[in-house]
Amino acid sequence: MTTNRQFRLKARPVGRIKPTDFELVEGPVPTAGPGQAVARLLYLSLDPTNRIWMTDMEQYMPPVQLGEVMRGGGIARVVESQLPEYPVGTLVTGLTGWQDYVVLDAGSSAMLQALPPGLPVPPQAFMGALGVTGLTAYFGLLELGQPQPGETVVVSAAAGATGSVVGQIARIKGCRVVGIAGGAEKCRWLTADLGFDAAVDYKAPGWQAALRAACPKGIDVNFENVGGEIMDEVMSGMNLGGRVVLCGMISGYNDSAPMRGRFDLILMKRLRVQGFIVIDFMPRFAEGVMQLAQWYLSGELKHRDTVVDGLENAPTAINMLFDGSNVGKLLVKVSDEQGTSDEQGT
Ligand SMILES: NC(=O)c1ccc[n+]([C@@H]2O[C@H](COP(=O)([O-])OP(=O)(O)OC[C@H]3O[C@@H](n4cnc5c(N)ncnc54)[C@H](OP(=O)(O)O)[C@@H]3O)[C@@H](O)[C@H]2O)c1
Repeated sequence: MTTNRQFRLKARPVGRIKPTDFELVEGPVPTAGPGQAVARLLYLSLDPTNRIWMTDMEQYMPPVQLGEVMRGGGIARVVESQLPEYPVGTLVTGLTGWQDYVVLDAGSSAMLQALPPGLPVPPQAFMGALGVTGLTAYFGLLELGQPQPGETVVVSAAAGATGSVVGQIARIKGCRVVGIAGGAEKCRWLTADLGFDAAVDYKAPGWQAALRAACPKGIDVNFENVGGEIMDEVMSGMNLGGRVVLCGMISGYNDSAPMRGRFDLILMKRLRVQGFIVIDFMPRFAEGVMQLAQWYLSGELKHRDTVVDGLENAPTAINMLFDGSNVGKLLVKVSDEQGTSDEQGT
């Protein structure tokens, strides 16, 4: 490949993200100068937070500025290096951006971490179950939700990257696990393949009654990914002193109106509601990855990816997160290399 394609933010989206919100800029593949390395993207991660970064609302990182390369997580392999910490063949994960090639320098370690060689899992696992969404599930559920054996945990967007891991960890911890997801096929996957005790299709009529029936002892922990009507319904079924892990409110991200919730229920049920961003737990990421990897390798934690081919499709594929056409982690395959991390350095 001789061209580096970059998607730069051209306009702040109104409603759904449109391809015209980006400009595709093509330039030569960068070369590594002294103290630099160049890595080629294998996979780009598409995440609901990309929509937030495109706005100038108050948020946890600076918004992407117009004209900048779109920020995004990814996994890339170093193809040229004058940087001893990142030899050729190293896999790096982190904020690669929406482009074919990313340049690393001595200050890159906060943005792009090198993976140790010899890991017996495919690279894309570090985008999902062993990556940011897996860590979000792990720290959000265990640290904030503090689920106890026998308690009922409800998770929304349950068939997505974060929700599917939340439910499986709650199951490992001995909880009754109820997922909320859009469509019968997603619900079947949750119960038949991932071991959820029940799954509620919020697109089917009468889903509110189905949710109550699935939680006969009430709800102790709500891992909230969606917000809006779904959050209100789950909160109204919670037990006194329940915990709400406020992870995301995707139902409001395409809307400019403020996201709202039922403060009356928080009061009456004495709920503990806590928002968090996974980077709050960055100093403990290694611990989280180790545990997730153990469950993954033992078969206790399953994962699924929805992979869209070609960087050129990222601006349209991002909307799959908002129409629910992804199952598990949504990724864009940017280049063809299929190596596992075992092949590093070869
Ligand atoms: N706090 C953090 O640090 C952090 C980190 C990662 C993710 N998150 C949040 O976690 C949530 C899930 O993120 P993810 O990356 O794992 O994405 P994901 O769950 O893999 O994909 C998003 C899913 O959300 C559901 N959805 C979209 N719009 C909806 C709506 N209006 N009503 C109900 N469901 C809707 C869709 O599933 P259905 O087919 O079921 O509708 C879709 O598949 C998001 O809110 C995200 O912002 C937070």
